[in-house]
Amino acid sequence: MTKEFSPIEWGNNRLSVLDQTLLPFQKKFIICRTYKEVGAAIKDMKLRGAPLIGIAAAFGMAMEAKKIKASSYEKFSKSLKAAGEELIKTRPTAVNLKWAVNRMLNFMESNRERRIESLKDLLAGEAVKIYKEDLENNKLIGKFGSELIREKDTILTHCNAGALATAGYGTALGVIRAANEKKKKITVYIDETRPYLQGARLTAWEMSEEKIPHFLITDNMAGFFMSKGKINVVIVGADRITANGDVANKIGTYSLAVLAYANKIPFYVAAPSSTIDFSLKTGDMIPIEMRSEDEVKKIFGKDIAPLKTRALHPAFDVTPAKYVSAIITEKGVIRAPFDMNLEKIFQNKEIVADL
Ligand code: MRU
Repeated sequence: MTKEFSPIEWGNNRLSVLDQTLLPFQKKFIICRTYKEVGAAIKDMKLRGAPLIGIAAAFGMAMEAKKIKASSYEKFSKSLKAAGEELIKTRPTAVNLKWAVNRMLNFMESNRERRIESLKDLLAGEAVKIYKEDLENNKLIGKFGSELIREKDTILTHCNAGALATAGYGTALGVIRAANEKKKKITVYIDETRPYLQGARLTAWEMSEEKIPHFLITDNMAGFFMSKGKINVVIVGADRITANGDVANKIGTYSLAVLAYANKIPFYVAAPSSTIDFSLKTGDMIPIEMRSEDEVKKIFGKDIAPLKTRALHPAFDVTPAKYVSAIITEKGVIRAPFDMNLEKIFQNKEIVADL
C-alpha cells in the first residue's frame, strides 16, 4: 500500500468503493452510481469510518445533484435536501456524515444565484474539496501526533482509524504512519475489535502493507499487556467529540481509556475538526447506533452461540473527557480543559450549521 492509498475513487459521477467487508482476503471495488447506492454501501459497512462515510455522502449528494431535473432553485434544493436527510439516517453516531451533508447544502445555498447546471458542477467540486481537505488534515494530524510518540514506543490502537476510514493516511494510524516515517522504531498492538473485527481485518492489513511491526491481540488482552508494561501509548480515532471533550468511538474504547488511566498510560484521540460536534455539550447526548445481534452471534456467517441466545450490539461507546490525555487535530494537540481549549482553537473555523 502506498502512503497515498485511498479506499474510494471519484470519476464520471460515480464512486468506486473498496469493499471493506471482504478485506483482508479479497480486494474488490464496487461502483456506486446513485446516492441510494452510496447510502446502502455505508449502511452495509462496505465503507466505514467517520471521515470516510462523510466524504462518501458528499459524493452521493454530488451524484444526485447531477440527476435532479428541476426548473427552479427551490425544486432543486428540496430534492437535494431530501437525499441528504436519507444519507444522514444511514448511521447515526459519526457526526462527520451530518457535517458533510450540511456543508454541501450550505454550499448550495450560498450559490443559489448560479444557473442550476453550473451549480451541479460546483457541488461536485465541493465534494472533491471535502475529500482533499480530509487527506491534508490527516497529514497534519500525523505531523502533530507523531511528536507525542517516543523512540521505541509500543502503541495500542482499537478498531480502524486508518487510510481505510478516511480519504487516505488515517487519523490514529496517520500518527502511527508519521512516527514510522520518522523512524521511531514503534511497535503497534492491534485490538481485534469484536464484533466487526476492524482491527484484525483492516488495521492489521494496513500495518502489514506498510511493514510496520505489529501484534494482533484480542480485546480482552489489553489490560494484561498494560499491566505488564508492554503498552506505553494508546491512540484511537473518534466518531463524535462533544464540546466538553467526551469522545464517542468504537465499542470497547471506553474500557481501554479506563485501563490506560489506571495504568498511567497516555490515551490520545486523533480526529479532524469535522468530528467535533459543538452543538452537543456532553457525550451522553450522542446517539449510539445499535446494530444487528447477528453480528455478535456469528463470525463470518458461522454461529458461535446457541441459536436461542439473544445478543446486544451497541456499535460505539462514550469515553468521558477526564480519561483523554489529548485530542490530536489538524490544528494541533489539544489538552484539558477541553471545553475551553476546543472552542479556543476552532473559534475561527466555520462550523457547518444545519440548514
Ligand atoms: O463502525 P465503524 O467501523 O465505522 O467504526 C469506526 C470507528 O469507530 C473509528 O475509530 C472512527 O470512525 C474513527 S475513523 C478515522
